[in-house]
Amino acid sequence: MERGLKGIGDIFPPLAGRSPAAYARQLYDFKSGARDGRYAALMKPVVAHLTDQDIVDLTAYIVSLQP
Ligand code: HEM
Repeated sequence: MERGLKGIGDIFPPLAGRSPAAYARQLYDFKSGARDGRYAALMKPVVAHLTDQDIVDLTAYIVSLQP
């Protein structure tokens, strides 16, 4: 997943090429439970203890990796 953030198969979605608001929203929704799709359970422990500031920081980092 680190290599280009293009995702793996159809389970791990690509992260490359999205807007900052899209990342922050998804992370927030996984945490709140609003996003509860097929594989959301894999993301839940990742985001469970993130603060809003963590989400902003992660979003800024991911977006900084885009070409
Ligand atoms: C800090 C680390 C991580 C960040 C920032 C992150 C970020 C994201 C984001 C933004 C999405 C939504 C993508 C979309 O809307 O298409 C997502 C989905 C997903 N992530 Fe992560 N992720 C992280 C770690 C992980 C780890 C460690 C795993 C596996 C154990 C994982 C597995 C998945 C899966 C399976 C989905 C799709 C969930 C679904 O189908 O609803 N992620 N991730």
